[in-house]
Amino acid sequence: MSNAVAATIQPSAVEKRVADLLGRMTLAEKLGQMNQVSAEGPGAVEALRKAVCEGRIGSVINQVDPSFVNELQRIAVEDSRLGIPLLIGRDVIHGFRTVMPIPLGQAATWNPDVVHAGARVAALEAAAAGVNWTFAPMLDISRDPRWGRIAESLGEDPFLTSRLGTAMVAGFQGADLSVPGCIAACVKHFAGYGASESGRDYATTNIPENELRNVYLPPFRAALDAGAATVMASFSDLNGVPATANRFLMRDILREEWGFGGFVVSDWDSIRQLAVHGLTASDRDSAFEAVLAGVDMDMAGGVYAAQLSALIEDGRVPMEVIDAAVASILRVKFRLGLFDRSYAELQRYPSPSEDDKRRVAHEAARQGIVLLKNDRGLLPLSPEKTRSIAVIGPLADDPYEQLGTWIFDGDPALSVTGLQGIRDLVGNEIEVHHVRALETSRSRSTKSFDGAVQAARASDVVLLFLGEESILSGEAHSRADIGLPGAQAELVRRVHEADKPVVAIIMAGRPLVLTEVIDDLDAVLFAWHPGTMGGTALADLLFGVESPSGKLPVTFPRAVGQIPIYYNQKHGGKPPSPDTAILIDDIPVRAPQTSIGNTSCHLDAGYRPLFPFGHGLSYTTFGYSNLRLSSPQLRSGEALAVSVEITNTGRIAADEVAQLYVRDLVGNVTRPVRELKGFQRVRLAPGEKTTVTFRLDSGDLAFYGRDNTLMTEPGDFQLWVGGSSEAELRAAFRLVRAGTGGTSP
Ligand code: GLC
Repeated sequence: MSNAVAATIQPSAVEKRVADLLGRMTLAEKLGQMNQVSAEGPGAVEALRKAVCEGRIGSVINQVDPSFVNELQRIAVEDSRLGIPLLIGRDVIHGFRTVMPIPLGQAATWNPDVVHAGARVAALEAAAAGVNWTFAPMLDISRDPRWGRIAESLGEDPFLTSRLGTAMVAGFQGADLSVPGCIAACVKHFAGYGASESGRDYATTNIPENELRNVYLPPFRAALDAGAATVMASFSDLNGVPATANRFLMRDILREEWGFGGFVVSDWDSIRQLAVHGLTASDRDSAFEAVLAGVDMDMAGGVYAAQLSALIEDGRVPMEVIDAAVASILRVKFRLGLFDRSYAELQRYPSPSEDDKRRVAHEAARQGIVLLKNDRGLLPLSPEKTRSIAVIGPLADDPYEQLGTWIFDGDPALSVTGLQGIRDLVGNEIEVHHVRALETSRSRSTKSFDGAVQAARASDVVLLFLGEESILSGEAHSRADIGLPGAQAELVRRVHEADKPVVAIIMAGRPLVLTEVIDDLDAVLFAWHPGTMGGTALADLLFGVESPSGKLPVTFPRAVGQIPIYYNQKHGGKPPSPDTAILIDDIPVRAPQTSIGNTSCHLDAGYRPLFPFGHGLSYTTFGYSNLRLSSPQLRSGEALAVSVEITNTGRIAADEVAQLYVRDLVGNVTRPVRELKGFQRVRLAPGEKTTVTFRLDSGDLAFYGRDNTLMTEPGDFQLWVGGSSEAELRAAFRLVRAGTGGTSP
């Protein structure tokens, strides 16, 4: 049920209280609610006290000192004329003090329960500091790993992002937003930000409406229908109109079509930036464009506070627009219980123990780490066979860097590094030689490489910790070359000379191009930035306490030139295939113009990624068999049961994430070659078999057609079930209109 439906169907007490309060507010007090002010900078504290007392501020951002937050709330509630409490906003993106894996790493768990638990811990820690509003989850579909903010995303797929984004909202907001320890979520950045040209942050996005509706909008719709309280407009220019002034996005879609009843906040100073974009010529015009487009609150820009009253006085902005904006803000404050519980009460609740919080972070890290490669079953290691290991690399023992991007309040002192995790687990049985080898992930000095090679030579196995420092991903941190930074590739080559088995543990905020080094690595664990408990999780996986079970939420390119490359691409009219995709070194000299390929691929990279969406190995193997459908036909309005047997055909108990993909063979618009429509995590003992059943509703096959209306279209479909987007076990079914004999689509 959408927000608005929930709010309008029951003209609840909240609506009456909103209307009553609104009716008593002066224009200045209304505009104050639309003004969020940063609590940073010289003189901010004194200025805040005065402005809050005068009702000129509705929200404060970046203040997490509980005593100061409570002082501001006391002033707002007891000293201001109407006693309207403040929203205290903070980027609690993947943890507050206890840091979870970056959202992309949480997405690799493919586990809504893990994502929910992480957001719950984050909300409880943040609420204790007085925070009642987080600017998360980020739901931008991200198909370009050059973009630094892919780290904050839940990956390239709308279905996975929708499921996990909704779980994160539920973790932040709880079942009842007014319960202490629950904080308002903010789904961002609305919309299409992930399509920034060339992966350069804040760059232009050009997204046809059909693609916007079929790919970029569904996660926002899902999270809002699940009750997300607020939305943040994106910085980006969408088809010539920046999202912050885009009425199509925020009036037509968000309010009219979806019935959203919460409020929209700008991104940081993004209202003023409308003039920088060149959409407007002044702050006044920017305020005009943004408020009419549907931005209800100005984040840290001061433009609404300075310009709106003049726009109202000269009649350019109707009072109804202001009243609607203020009502939506008050509605969220009422939903949060800010008027019914004192701010101090909202910070008092049974908080999980430190051990419980670390357990959540540990499980999230462990389930999100992806085993990309494991030649000759090198992993897991065992103290019986491995007497000594060399732990090498700049990210092996760095409590801060493993936390990842967007960490404002994370405490590195809580971190368990990879080196520490290994020592904790097997330090008494295995000799550990530690060589940092590089000061940072960007260092180019090879002067310590000899020491690294010696340590490798003196050990049975090398654990090479590689990747990116946290600053190399996140906002405004895009990279044009997404290989290993600095001299790390050289370090791999040098260590390889020691002729010992090499396990790479890679920490990064994005997929990296590993093509240059992958052949010199016998096994690869991709750990993203794994957060506080990353080291403990890594040790568990390295030494077989648990088997890796993570699956890629995003495609790993073979070369940066392949980008954008993603699994749910369109088929095209001349699709590549293994025998038509001729690689550059195979082209005969003086081959005639039309003699090779003539299909869609790159001569020097082919058409396949290095690792596909959904990929992730285990220490065991899983067999998929007996794929069965409840019927060869699916009638509109009904559902199909898709079941498959999964067997643990190996010797180790482990989790597997079974994935269901569907293809619509013929559509009113061209349809992707595969689309994720279901996933389930199962645990199987060696030799154990289970039957997994997916429910496929005809509505799951709906898409936006040529006229950009949602439709389901009878016709033939294929489906696959397996352990990655390259699953081979397949079946076919036909979608037929309800009531037909089913003979024709
Ligand atoms: C930013 C980001 C946004 C964040 C906001 C507040 O620039 O784009 O995601 O929530 O500022 O820090």
